[in-house]
Amino acid sequence: MRLSIIWAFICILYLFVYCFNAQETNAQIDDFCTGDGDTLECADKLKVNRHSGLYSFTLKQLEGVQVGHVQDVSLEDGTILKLKTLSMKPLLFEIRGFLSSLECAHLMSLASSQGLEESLTVRTDGMKSSSVKLLDINSDQRLSVNEIEKAVFENSITWIETIIYYFFIISRFLYTECYQGVSFITPEELQQIDVNDLTNYLSAFAKIHPIKQSRYSKQSWLYPDSSTDDVFRQIQNRVIEVTRLPPVMIKKSDFQVVVYDEGGHYNAHQDSDTSSSVPCCTQKRRTNCRICRFMTVLFYLNDVTEGGGTAFPVAGNDTYDEQELRVKHLINLQQSCDEANLIVQPELGKAVIWYNHHVDESTGWIGAMDVMSWHGGCPVIRGQKWIANFWIKYADDKEAFLADE
Ligand code: OGA
Ligand code: FE2
Repeated sequence: MRLSIIWAFICILYLFVYCFNAQETNAQIDDFCTGDGDTLECADKLKVNRHSGLYSFTLKQLEGVQVGHVQDVSLEDGTILKLKTLSMKPLLFEIRGFLSSLECAHLMSLASSQGLEESLTVRTDGMKSSSVKLLDINSDQRLSVNEIEKAVFENSITWIETIIYYFFIISRFLYTECYQGVSFITPEELQQIDVNDLTNYLSAFAKIHPIKQSRYSKQSWLYPDSSTDDVFRQIQNRVIEVTRLPPVMIKKSDFQVVVYDEGGHYNAHQDSDTSSSVPCCTQKRRTNCRICRFMTVLFYLNDVTEGGGTAFPVAGNDTYDEQELRVKHLINLQQSCDEANLIVQPELGKAVIWYNHHVDESTGWIGAMDVMSWHGGCPVIRGQKWIANFWIKYADDKEAFLADE
């Protein structure tokens, strides 16, 4: 009897100590993102907590509930934003009036005064063997000129790949090898091309056929990490509040202002890349790495007279089949925007927010890519379309990344 009383006492004591500790840790975590004043400043505290071993951050997605669900997001300044679920697969939301027209104008002028450059989506790491396979319609392990031409004209491959095929076709014809019976290219041959040799050819081609590119727009980069612009800083703070991500993730985001003129478009793509096992291009890595972006927050900075919606070709589908996506030309938004499952219409100040990745519950960090997150910009038919993007990045090492190292 006495023994069981002692045991009960020990258990209660243990529970008390456990709860007290948990509360303290949670309080410290809460401090990061809900403290007074500037949300960005709390990023530094992560470092301290990492080293004291108290902080173990678990990534969480916003809850979608169901398509059409609307939830209020109360900001520190008293504003209430309406977060509307547009799709559960991928998890996709919109918030109308996220930016004021003054903020939109400010971002446009920041980008303009800095200068806008033609956007390029050039991959320099050569061909993906998986896409070679997809184009090999008769599965004979080589690409015939017909197969390549089909791919080129259907635009079911990325721009750089298209150019490589063109280059090959042209060089084959130049050397008249085609006429001598060499009318195919093996995946190995494609892999061997020195992509650097193509640079001049690429830019000449791009100038002549801008509409053929997978992306036709101009852009300017702003840097959340180093910018001293107050308006931009306020926008970053709002994004932190809405996404509930650690401030450092917003600070380390890529941020682009993009303008599409008439005919401008961006073929369907995924904003992140898990196609190879090289490390993420973050933490100062620039070569032999892949683009790792957990979330995208896209703002429309103006009203477009006609066209220019953001299309999600497979949103809400029960199954995913990349081959089908390509065969049905759903990637080529110049041709098949109308067939996309979901199109978000541009509207000044609106934010579109989606996850490119799931969360891995076991690590509390980035999980598999959400294959349903394919999306792109439909052609602008009349007027201009201005957008801005936070591409919220991650790195393989969660703790080092969050600790801002
Ligand atoms: C992007 C993008 C879509 C659009 O910039 O990554 O997908 O509607 N843009 O412009
Ligand atoms: Fe994108």
